[in-house]
Order: sequence, then structure tokens, then C-alpha cells
Amino acid sequence: MARRFAVREALLLSAVFLCCAPAQAADVDVDAAKKLVAVASNNCGKCHHATNKKDASTYKSIAEKYRNDAQAEAKLIKHLTTGPEVKYEDGTKENHKLVTTKPPEDEKQIKNLIQWILSHK
Ligand code: HEC
Repeated sequence: MARRFAVREALLLSAVFLCCAPAQAADVDVDAAKKLVAVASNNCGKCHHATNKKDASTYKSIAEKYRNDAQAEAKLIKHLTTGPEVKYEDGTKENHKLVTTKPPEDEKQIKNLIQWILSHK
């Protein structure tokens, strides 16, 4: 009897763990994210690179900036869907590019892209 109980408890515990474990990098669909940044309508790579500084921050430095920010995903969704004014090192300003997805504004794809950016180490 006692033994059966323990098994049930163990199962319950693992269920809790599975459901509530924080999102891991493994959940990111890397291929989908890479495709999305590369499509001509986005062309994020024109200004951003994973580790080599181009006109704008590297994905690695963006990930570092947001590492301890619980609002990171929400802030970056806003960044990519509202196009706030951004500044280049030379002082030039322009509105940031809006991310395009097919279908438009697909939250799942945008979140995956952001989690991919945030997973850079
Ligand atoms: C024409 C150049 C350009 C393109 C194209 C571009 N960005 Fe940016 N991006 C910038 C600049 C400039 C900044 C702000 C300054 C910086 O971070 O260097 C920025 C900032 C960001 C940030 C950081 C925001 C923050 O709060 O620190 C993210 C994330 C980002 N871009 C993602 C993307 C993605 C994803 C794409 C493609 C959909 C993209 N960018 C396309 C120039 C660009």
C-alpha cells in the first residue's frame, strides 16, 4: 500500500516538473528562426549578426542585455511589432524594422524568433 502511494507521488511530482519547468533553449525551433530572419522581407542579417558587430547589436549582446529581464519577451515583441525609433552608433536615427511573418503577426513565430535571439551565448 505504502509503496503504491510513493509511485503515485513520484508520478505527480514529475508531472508538475514537466508542466512547470522553465522554457529551455531546446524548445526553440532554430531552423524556423533562422529562416525567418533571413527572408528578404526581414533581412535582419543586414544589420545584426550572432557575434560580429555590424550596424546594430549582435544577438549575443542582446541576449546578454536581457538575460535577467523577466519582461524580455514582451519587450522584444513590442520592439519588433511597433518599430520604435532606434539609434545607430554614428547618431543616425530611424524607426526599427517591423518583423514580417506568414501569416502576418504570427505570435508563435515571433516568440520563437525572440527566444532564439535570447538563447545566444
Ligand atoms: C537597417 C538595420 C536593421 C535591421 C534590418 C534590423 N535591425 Fe534590429 N536593430 C537595429 C538598430 C539600429 C537597433 C538599436 C541599436 C542597437 O541595438 O544596436 C536594433 C535593435 C534590435 C533589437 C534589440 C532591442 C533592444 O531593446 O535592445 C532586436 C531584438 C532586434 N533589433 C532584432 C531585429 C530583428 C529580429 C530584425 C529582422 C526582423 C532586425 N532587428 C532588423 C537595426 C536593424
